[in-house]
Amino acid sequence: MSAETAVAQGATSLDLAGPIPGGGEVRLTVEHLTMRFGGLVAIDDVSFQAADGRITAIIGPNGAGKTTVFNCLTGFYKPTVGRLALHHPKGEFLLERIEGFRTAQDAGVARTFQNIRLFPRMTVLENLIVAQHNKLMRASGYTVFGLLGLKRYREAEEKAVELARYWLDRTLLTKAADQEAGNLPYGDQRRLEVARAMCTEPVLLCLDEPAAGLNPRESQLLNQLLMFIRDEHKMGILLIEHDMSVVMGISDHIVVLDYGRKISDGTPEQVRSDPAVIRAYLGEDEDEEPVGETAAGQESAAREGDERDA
Ligand SMILES: Nc1ncnc2c1ncn2[C@@H]1O[C@H](COP(=O)(O)OP(=O)(O)OP(=O)(O)O)[C@@H](O)[C@H]1O
Ligand SMILES: [Mg+2]
Repeated sequence: MSAETAVAQGATSLDLAGPIPGGGEVRLTVEHLTMRFGGLVAIDDVSFQAADGRITAIIGPNGAGKTTVFNCLTGFYKPTVGRLALHHPKGEFLLERIEGFRTAQDAGVARTFQNIRLFPRMTVLENLIVAQHNKLMRASGYTVFGLLGLKRYREAEEKAVELARYWLDRTLLTKAADQEAGNLPYGDQRRLEVARAMCTEPVLLCLDEPAAGLNPRESQLLNQLLMFIRDEHKMGILLIEHDMSVVMGISDHIVVLDYGRKISDGTPEQVRSDPAVIRAYLGEDEDEEPVGETAAGQESAAREGDERDA
């Protein structure tokens, strides 16, 4: 059955039978996601789930379709086919149907980008306050009078600063609060992006290669931050990552894409020994070493060099 027919008939993907690898309550269900650009099939009938309080890594070689999955989830692209259901405390949101800007605002899906997209000329603190703009505007009743006089606006403003302070502290950026974001070291900018996403108070956090270009110390700080968000905030995190030491170290569940198709879906232990994954990363010879820090580390090191040069 084609993905179109399956979605039209409301057929649930067979891939999703049974509990989510790595456990947890389901937060996101992606079914039959397909994205075509003209003749190019960037994602081909991909289904997977992601759970709350778990880190779900999406991995795969360059061009596999990872960022395109995020672009479909966050409203940048309208999928050609697919059902993207976010199970939210307020009810179910079908992400493929809602306007892009509502994905973060109403559905609570926050993301970071493969290439850092902070407001570089604003201070670190300003970046975190701007992220809460929608909340503040709601508190103002969308009027100038509200901005100037309403008690509820002043209270919302105080709360926004409080939340920003909390995430500054958690991302070890309190001392840099008044610096321009664009002047921060690279690792700090990456953590600031995560802090900014968390200031929108999301229910699902999507991170596109947050460890790209980081040195080992920065990478370790990022890992600690992601584990803190997962464990203390019980947040579902979708993580696109090339660095296998990060992926294998902190993920609970891994989905592997190759040429737009899902080739594996399981716990880190299941995925690292899956012959299809080994083939995708290392070519046809399955006798070579399994997916681990060596092969991916080399790729990651090469990419890091590229990113720093960019
Ligand atoms: N807007 C677009 N128009 C045409 N083709 C696109 C578009 N966006 C993505 N693609 C193509 O879709 C495929 C998947 O791209 P995508 O960026 O999702 O890969 P990726 O897995 O994130 O790769 P990388 O690891 O290099 O970031 C690629 O062939 C890419 O060229
Ligand atoms: Mg990408």
